[in-house]
Amino acid sequence: MDAESGGVDRSGLIGRSVELEELEARLAAVVGGAGSVVLIEGEAGIGKSALANEVAAIAARRGLRVFAAGTATDRGPVQPFTLLVRTLLSLGPPATDVERELAGLIGKYREDWALWSSPDQTDERTQIEELFADLLIERAAGGPSVVLLEDLHLVDDASLRVLERLAAGGAVPSTMLVATTRTVPRRPELVTAVAAWTRAGAAPLEVPALTPQAAIELGERLLGHRAGPVLRARLSAAGGNPQFIVDLVTAVQESDALVDGADGVVELAGNVVLRDLNQQLSARVAHVGNEALALLSVAAVLGSSFMEADLAAVAEMPEEETWRVLRHCSAAGLVQARGGRLTFRHDLVRDALYAGLTLAVRRDLHRRASLVLFEAGAPAAVVQEHLARAEDPHGDRE
Ligand SMILES: Nc1ncnc2c1ncn2[C@@H]1O[C@H](COP(=O)(O)OP(=O)(O)O)[C@@H](O)[C@H]1O
Ligand SMILES: [Mg+2]
Repeated sequence: MDAESGGVDRSGLIGRSVELEELEARLAAVVGGAGSVVLIEGEAGIGKSALANEVAAIAARRGLRVFAAGTATDRGPVQPFTLLVRTLLSLGPPATDVERELAGLIGKYREDWALWSSPDQTDERTQIEELFADLLIERAAGGPSVVLLEDLHLVDDASLRVLERLAAGGAVPSTMLVATTRTVPRRPELVTAVAAWTRAGAAPLEVPALTPQAAIELGERLLGHRAGPVLRARLSAAGGNPQFIVDLVTAVQESDALVDGADGVVELAGNVVLRDLNQQLSARVAHVGNEALALLSVAAVLGSSFMEADLAAVAEMPEEETWRVLRHCSAAGLVQARGGRLTFRHDLVRDALYAGLTLAVRRDLHRRASLVLFEAGAPAAVVQEHLARAEDPHGDRE
């Protein structure tokens, strides 16, 4: 596949040629001595780490040095400065004055963390922040480099404070800072740091959903086969989220749900319910919080697209409150809002939430939905469908 069709590039990433081109242009500028800051943003699983790691790999191939601490889960417990210590101090024993001084100061706080919050330590905290800035500049003096800061949404506050302070000096020459972050949660410390970097000229790079074509290509590559129409429809229901596609293919392979069709095509067998997938996806989106999950589960009963007013009525929640929670879901990339209408971004997630409702709750919600939609003037067939589901003793109608 060529770049035009959004196909596989050298990296093995699918459908990311536009993003990689932009990042490669920035890398070239950094080799030329410029400073650059890129903030890679997007929903969980959309491919932020994959993209950031690819930039790092390209940089390494071009002879740039790469400083990276891995993703938040690799970094272990969130101790102060974990991100920056792992990123910038990870190259062996302290070798310069700045490194030695910094290692000493941080060591003291790591042993007795309670010290950190003491008001007497303000000067020392400032000193640490300044030393990190010096360290980054010292690293930059060693030649062009890429500093990868993963998962800012999970980063310790102390590291965020340093990053904020660094922004005041602007981009560091010959250095490309690449940070990744989810759109939620947005802690105040992160918002402040991002604001400071935005003022310093950081480029936001919002990672888009894979196109439907790229999504199917990824699924087929993982399957090792072309997919039949039912399976393709499931792949499309991932809403272009590569992680959900990986999860879907894994679940399908593990549950013996595949049958061979003609011409090497594989297809989903009958009306399989992928329970593991439903549980996996519910867990993947749990980071939005219980309140949002509960409301989205009610929304799942209404359908792929629903009106906010209808959801408020079925959920028996004030509209303002409903809207507040939905805005959060929208920021997390789980729903899209247009006027008063909302649409699930990934039908796979909607299915998973629906499957997670107990039969009694599901039937009750369908009953309430039938009343609300009847009052709102929805077509009789739609109202009837909810009533039928409310009265279905097994709740297994598709
Ligand atoms: N463009 C892509 N092509 C192929 N696989 C991808 C692509 N983007 C992400 N992936 C895969 O999808 C999964 C989730 O991507 P990841 O980068 O970890 O997401 P995020 O960091 O945004 O949560 C990983 O297994 C990754 O290898
Ligand atoms: Mg990641």
